[in-house]
Amino acid sequence: MSPFIPLAFERLSPADSLARAEAFYATLRRRRSVRQFSSEPLPPGLVETLIHAAGTAPSGANQQPWRFVVVTDADLKQRLRAAAEAEEREFYAHRATAEWLADLEPLGTDWRKPFLEDAPVIVVVFRVDYERVGDKVRKHYYVHESVGIAVGLFLAAAHTAGLVTLTHTPSPMGFLNSVLRRPGNERPFVVIPLGYPADDAVVPDIHRKPLNAIIQYNDDAHEPG
Ligand SMILES: Cc1cc2nc3c(=O)[nH]c(=O)nc-3n(C[C@H](O)[C@H](O)[C@H](O)COP(=O)(O)O)c2cc1C
Repeated sequence: MSPFIPLAFERLSPADSLARAEAFYATLRRRRSVRQFSSEPLPPGLVETLIHAAGTAPSGANQQPWRFVVVTDADLKQRLRAAAEAEEREFYAHRATAEWLADLEPLGTDWRKPFLEDAPVIVVVFRVDYERVGDKVRKHYYVHESVGIAVGLFLAAAHTAGLVTLTHTPSPMGFLNSVLRRPGNERPFVVIPLGYPADDAVVPDIHRKPLNAIIQYNDDAHEPG
């Protein structure tokens, strides 16, 4: 068993708690998925700090089952784009159901993925399903949940740092293992172009559900009406 240490904890007043939560929400509500990127490079050290922040996520049995692959090389980005577009052409032409295409319609997306070359950095997140320790295989638990939380922290950190991201899931994603030469215990989770928006970037005019549609109180005091 690990030794225990005192918890480092800062107690806030109720007013400060509320103010910080409101400020965080005010920042996060401006986050948008961006599909038009400038090629302007990022300040040195920024990507590493964002990945550091993502790596603070909780994880099943503290196994931290994630790998963030940082791609900046122009040739490699070009190969990622070509492979992703080949899959996405198939997806939009054949694999997607009519219902799926209708759900994507308001976003204006299609098989073209120029952001995979335009963005200065592409972060490809892999889930690490198991690790080899000596001659043993150590299975990881709750990998999907753990990596999802880490990606959420990454997106929030990037937005807070003044960058924009896209959460991109080319379908299917198996090509990422070969293009990025990742081992078989790592499976692609999401592709995140990261950078600054193009000057003429636009986003779909879509809306988030109101609070009362996503919150459910389980006590009588909050019964509606
Ligand atoms: C798991 C996941 C997969 C996504 N995959 C794609 C994708 O492949 N291509 C894309 O353009 N957007 C993708 N998105 C972005 C969503 O379309 C976007 O988050 C949603 O429309 C809400 O817009 P917002 O992020 O600007 O609030 C994905 C988002 C999530 C969470």
